[in-house]
Amino acid sequence: MTDAKNLKTANDTSTPTKAAFPQGKNVIAVASGKGGVGKTWFSITLSHALARQGKRVLLFDGDLGLANVDVQLGLMPKRDLNDVIRGRLSLDKVVQTYEEGGFDIIAGRSGQASLSALPSQRLAMLRDQLLDLAQDYDVVVIDLGAGVDRTVRMMSASATRSLLITTDEPTSLTDAYAYIKLGSAAGMSKRVSIVVNQASSQLEGEKTYRTLHKACENFLRLSPPLAGLIRTDPRVKDTVRSQTPILIRSPNTEAAQDVEKIANYVDGILKKAASA
Ligand SMILES: Nc1ncnc2c1ncn2[C@@H]1O[C@H](COP(=O)(O)OP(=O)(O)OP(=O)(O)O)[C@@H](O)[C@H]1O
Ligand SMILES: [Mg+2]
Repeated sequence: MTDAKNLKTANDTSTPTKAAFPQGKNVIAVASGKGGVGKTWFSITLSHALARQGKRVLLFDGDLGLANVDVQLGLMPKRDLNDVIRGRLSLDKVVQTYEEGGFDIIAGRSGQASLSALPSQRLAMLRDQLLDLAQDYDVVVIDLGAGVDRTVRMMSASATRSLLITTDEPTSLTDAYAYIKLGSAAGMSKRVSIVVNQASSQLEGEKTYRTLHKACENFLRLSPPLAGLIRTDPRVKDTVRSQTPILIRSPNTEAAQDVEKIANYVDGILKKAASA
C-alpha cells in the first residue's frame, strides 16, 4: 500500500489563486483526484438516499466535459446545461424530475467542449444561478469532473462540503492528496471529507483513510474527516449496466447500505451548516 511519505510527492504543482466564492449552505460537491473512482454512481446513490430521507434533492451534473448522470440512469433529457450555456433557457427550466428516485436532476451534455471551456465569467454566472436555485431544495449534490481544474475549484469552493472520493489504488490516493493540497491553497480543503470507495473490507477501507489522513496531517497540517467507506460490491456494476439505481434494484446490498450511512453523515453536515 502507498504510505504517507509517498503521497507527499504528488506531482501536481500548479498554484491556484485565492478567491472568495459565494457559498451555498446546502450544497455538497462530490470530487476526486483521479477519474473513474465512482463519483457519478455515488452522487446518484447519495441523492437517492437523501431523497428517501424525505429531503428535496437536486443532482447537478457538474462534470462539464464528460457528463453522464443521465447515462447511468438511462434518461434522455430534452433540455440540459447546454441550453443554459447558450443562453436559450434559465437554469430552473432545465431541471427534470427523476420520478423513480424522487429527486430532481440537471443533466449535462457529454462531449461538449463548449461547456468545459466556458469563460470564467460564464462559469461564475452558472454557479450563481445554481446557488439561487439551491434555495428551493434541502440539498444540492454536484457531481464534479475528476481533478482540480478551474471548474472544479469554483464549484467545490461554493459547496458547504466536498466529499472527496478515493480508492486504495496508489494513483487514486496520490491524486486525492494532490486535490487536498491544491485545494488548500484555494482555501477549500478545510471543508473536505473523505469517502473511501471500493474498499475490500471495512478494515482495509479504514487503512486507506488513515494513509491519506496521515499525509494530510504531516505535510499540510490538515485533518480531513472520514465521511464513510463503501465496500466493493458486484451489484454496483449490475446497476450501472442496467441503468437502474442501486437503491431500487438492490437496496439491501453492502454498497447501498454504506451510502445510506454516508447520507446520514451528510444530514449531520447540513444541519450544522443550517444552524451556523
Ligand atoms: N463500490 C463499488 N463497487 C464496485 N464497483 C464500483 C463501486 N463504485 C464504483 N464502481 C465501478 O466504477 C465504475 C465507475 O464509476 P463512475 O462512472 O461513477 O466513476 P466516476 O468517478 O464518475 O468516473 P469519471 O471520473 O469518469 O466521471 C462504475 O461503473 C462501477 O462499475
Ligand atoms: Mg463521472
